[in-house]
Amino acid sequence: MASSPEGRLSVSTIDVAEGHEDTFLSIAREFSVLMAKKKYGRTDIARDELSPNTFYAVRHWASASAAEACHADAEVGALTSRLYQIARVTHVVNGVRRLTPAPSIGADRRAAGTDRRAGFDRRLTDEVPPETRDRRDGERRLGPRRMRVRAGHIDLAAAARRARENADARFSHFKVGAALETTDGSVVTGCNVENATYGLTICAERVAMFKAISEGHRAFTRIAIVADTPTLTPPCGACRQILWEFGGDLEVILANLTSAQATHSLKTLLPLPFDARLL
Ligand code: THU
Repeated sequence: MASSPEGRLSVSTIDVAEGHEDTFLSIAREFSVLMAKKKYGRTDIARDELSPNTFYAVRHWASASAAEACHADAEVGALTSRLYQIARVTHVVNGVRRLTPAPSIGADRRAAGTDRRAGFDRRLTDEVPPETRDRRDGERRLGPRRMRVRAGHIDLAAAARRARENADARFSHFKVGAALETTDGSVVTGCNVENATYGLTICAERVAMFKAISEGHRAFTRIAIVADTPTLTPPCGACRQILWEFGGDLEVILANLTSAQATHSLKTLLPLPFDARLL
């Protein structure tokens, strides 16, 4: 899909839970009005003819900075949070990811492009200017720095609960959902997928992270993990490693199907990590 610097598109697929279509359409209308009022751009919504609960949202951003302002907008955040209660959102095209670090406002506030730094480096550069860092192999660490830019008003646990419904846990019957938030405000979800050899099973957290990486995301803020257990389910060791290497010191939100919730930093869950710094 073509996009010029001043006419960027983001496209999402929205699977609305049965019976919530009207709520979705009213959220979409409110979103459209907000987009127009604040001059962020406009949104088109199309319904899938064959699958009436599936919608496509095309956002035409006025500019990349308008998109950034929209992602950081609290009113938009409140709407998004309502949306995640009733729908699963898959971001198909993210037209506002900067391909090169922009020198203008906010350039240092958004990670972009291919950031190959390990989790620890990403975390470090939140506080240390790039030029003061030790660069052993410069190119591995090149790239914009990562910052936590949003307080996080999306209900990530709700998104993870919905993702969990897609888990294929036919052998363990232990369904897990994960929702990973990126610094540009997108949410990428995952669920565990098991198979007959057992050993090739993949956890919800790694599915979410690998999906996100494959869609071009490189900087993350939080992940929510949901299972149906009274004692909250923490990520397994393999997932902690992957989350650390690609996501840095994420906020890890553990939740179950009710309201129980706990928050940890990934660093406390993986206190002495191995990563690319040690290679
Ligand atoms: N599982 C996850 O998806 N995430 C976790 O944090 C813990 C475990 C999955 C893997 C397997 O499909 C099932 O739960 C039982 O271990």
